[in-house]
Parts: sequence; C-alpha cells; structure tokens
Amino acid sequence: MSKKLFIKTYGCQMNVYDSARMADVLAPLGYEPTDQVDLADMVILNTCHIRERASEKTFHELGRLKALKAKRNITIAVAGCVAQAEGAEIQRRQPLVDIVVGPQAYHRLPEMVAKISRARGHALDTDFPADSKFDHLPQTDTPVGPTAFLTVQEGCDKFCTFCVVPYTRGAEMSRPVDAILAEARHLADCGAREITLLGQNVNAYHGPDADGQSLGLGDLIRRLSDIDGIERLRYTTSHPRDMADDLILAHRDCEKLMPFLHLPVQSGSDRILAAMNRQHDAASYLNLVDRLRQARPDIALSSDFIVGFPGETDADFQATLDLIRQVGYAQAYSFKYSPRPGTPAELMAAQVPEPVKEERLAKLQALIVSQQLAFNQAQIGKVFGVLFDRRGRREGQWIGRSPYLQSVHAAINGEPTGKIANVKILNAGPNSLTGEIIDTMEPACAA
Ligand code: SAH
Ligand code: SF4
Ligand code: F3S
Repeated sequence: MSKKLFIKTYGCQMNVYDSARMADVLAPLGYEPTDQVDLADMVILNTCHIRERASEKTFHELGRLKALKAKRNITIAVAGCVAQAEGAEIQRRQPLVDIVVGPQAYHRLPEMVAKISRARGHALDTDFPADSKFDHLPQTDTPVGPTAFLTVQEGCDKFCTFCVVPYTRGAEMSRPVDAILAEARHLADCGAREITLLGQNVNAYHGPDADGQSLGLGDLIRRLSDIDGIERLRYTTSHPRDMADDLILAHRDCEKLMPFLHLPVQSGSDRILAAMNRQHDAASYLNLVDRLRQARPDIALSSDFIVGFPGETDADFQATLDLIRQVGYAQAYSFKYSPRPGTPAELMAAQVPEPVKEERLAKLQALIVSQQLAFNQAQIGKVFGVLFDRRGRREGQWIGRSPYLQSVHAAINGEPTGKIANVKILNAGPNSLTGEIIDTMEPACAA
C-alpha cells in the first residue's frame, strides 16, 4: 500500500534539491509525495541553520507536529543543516523526532526507516561518509518543470567567521563531470529548459572528467551548453575569490549562460571584510565587477549583505552603502548579523546592538529597493526571451522568467509552459514586469 510523504523545505536552493532527492530515495519504499501534511505517514523537515531565526523554525514546526503525531503514528524526520549541527540534541529537545539525518547521509534514509520500524527506536546519522551520497542516489523521478536545480558542488572550505555552512555541509567536494552531464541530459529529457547549477561555493567547482582531468566551472558550463533542449544555464552561489578568468570568459562566450550573477560581497568595508575572513577587499570586488561587465556588458548583479557584524561602525556601514552605489545591483538579499554557535564571530567583542542593526538594515534595503526598481524600469521597451513556467492570477495571464530572473507577466492564448518567447516589456514595478509577446509561441527547440 502506498504511503504518503510530506517534506517541508527551509533554507537555500541546495535544500530544495536535496528534498527532491530524499523523495527519490524513499519512493522504492512506497512513499508518494503529498502536499498535505494531514495525510502524511512520514514528515521530513529539511532544515536551515544559517541564522537563529531559520533554526528556530524547526522547533516551532516540531511543536505543531505534536498534535498530528498524537492522532496517528507518523514518522518524523529532521534533515538538513539543523540536523547536522544539533544531532542528538534534537531528539532530546523533541522526543517525537524519530530520525535525524544530516545533508551528506540522506541516501541512507531507507535503512533508517527500516531500523525504526523494526525496533521502534530512534535513528541518527550525521556522518560525512567517505563515499559520496551522489553515488547512491537513484535517477530523479520527481516531476521536472521547465526550470531545474542540479547540485554540482557541495560544502565549503572558506570559513567566513560568521557562517555555519563549513560545519553543517562539510568540506568542499565536486561531482564528476560525466555524472553531471548525465543528470542534465535526463532533466532535459524530462522537460527542463533552464538549469541552475548549485553549490555552496559553486565557482570553486573542480570535478574530474572521464580522462581524469580536473575541470573548472567555466569548462563545465561549456560542456553543458552542448546539450540539446537545455536553453539556459545559471549557477549559484559564487564566492568572489573563486571567480576564475575562464569562468568570466564563459560569460562572454556561452550564449546559454544567462547574464545574471549572484555574487555576494557581505560588506563594503575592508576592515569588516578582513574580520569576516572573506579573503578579498572592496577594491578587488569592484575590479571583478568591471571584468565581468567587460566580458558581458549586459550582465546584472545581485548580492548578499550582512549588517551589524561585530565591530561594524557607522563608517564601515557607509562603506557598504558606497559599494552598493558604485556597483548598482539588480537585486540583493540583506540580513542582520546573527551570532551562530561555534563560529568565531559569535565570540567577538563589540557585538552591535539590535536597534542599530535594524536601522542599518532598513537603510540598506531602501537603497537596494530603489536600485531594483531602477533596474526593472530600465527594461521598459526592451525585448528579451522569457521562459514561461506558470499561470498568472488573471484569465489568460502567464508568468515567466526573464534572463535576469525577474517575473514577467504576459497575456497568452494557449499553453506556453516550458516555452521561451520574445517579450517586449511595457511596465515595471519593484518585483515584476509586464509585457507583450512579439512573436509566435514556438519552442526554441523541438519539445
Ligand atoms: N556560500 C554563500 C553564502 C551562503 S549563506 C557565500 O559565500 O556567499 C547565504 C547568506 O546568508 C550569506 O551570503 C550571508 O549573507 C548570510 N549569512 C550567513 N551567515 C549569517 C549570519 N551568521 N548572520 C546573518 N547572515 C548570515
Ligand atoms: Fe559561508 Fe563563507 Fe562558505 Fe559562503 S563562503 S558558505 S558565507 S563560509
Ligand atoms: Fe541553510 Fe544549510 Fe543552505 S544552513 S542556507 S540550508 S547550506
């Protein structure tokens, strides 16, 4: 008899990818995905530990699941980065948790499920196994839409002083080129038109090809560009230190590589960048932006910022605003610094008071919103390809993605899902664009 699996995903795109893989791993045991938690026989919370608030959501949600478990004997699993960071502590705090599984061990979920159903006990696996989970994952069975994620790299060796990722995801590893090409071809066969390559430090990618040669991300993108059916490529998240010349040139040479790059800088102050152990200064970041724009003049940038890192003064914060003004972003994410257990910055003196963090965040976000609006408005009158992937709220309205990841609304007759059409942009708000189709809705290649 089929059983129902409900997965709730927090955090970054890599968790989205992992959630789909966990569903694949559990499918042979008879688990079918459901989006209704009340129907579930097994619930997985795929968690994020990046900021305090993200972590707290896990325990909040577990509290809510208590009522469900009181009614029916469901299996509750905590996966992801909170599982890795807190391990057995989770089951101590919330005994209703049956399984705790880290991000590198979830291919062993079937054994863990078998163990708890045999012995009715708990199961914990937060190993960083020597063999990669990727060698054990079945080919994906989860429905694939026009846009898909593909993890090519995992882990991080950078150890920024504020960040938990090197502890929760482990050391950097890159998947072999052939495995990535095979997965990309499979995604294309299932209808994916755009693939976003994922890694905590994706541009540190260095995977072996069939001849045992190590390829960088630029070369990997060149190889992926040859796959028919894949029309668009992106990658995220990149570290400024790993932006190799070859990758910059891929932005010039590969038409399928979209002219949009998420390149987090965190701060514009050299003093703070050093305290964060980012291993670069503001000038080298600005120089990198120049080189990217030389290679691909229409490239647009996005970033992450942290305000209120320990020791951040008004002058440091002003330097961040200056950098934002100099770069001109299409979009950005910004966060108040959140002290994380076990990271060096947690113990640093001169923690910034909460009201100061709040004030700085509001100022920074106002600047970003104005840049985002200006960027969107600059698209009015332009024509570019939009990949349609979902229905809009109004009758006959569809929503797609611009090359710059903006949502574009347009009225279309028929079913455009998975097709790329040229759209002329007529209107722009801070969060989306509207336009009109200017050519027939032909798929860019045989569908
Ligand atoms: N690998 C990526 C970042 C992954 S985490 C990179 O190097 O840029 C995503 C973002 O969360 C980071 O870019 C940072 O802006 C933010 N972040 C990470 N740790 C944080 C913390 N302790 N407090 C606040 N924001 C944090
Ligand atoms: Fe975290 Fe820094 Fe690694 Fe990004 S590069 S995941 S911010 S330690
Ligand atoms: Fe969060 Fe882990 Fe991703 S901490 S941001 S889910 S790598």
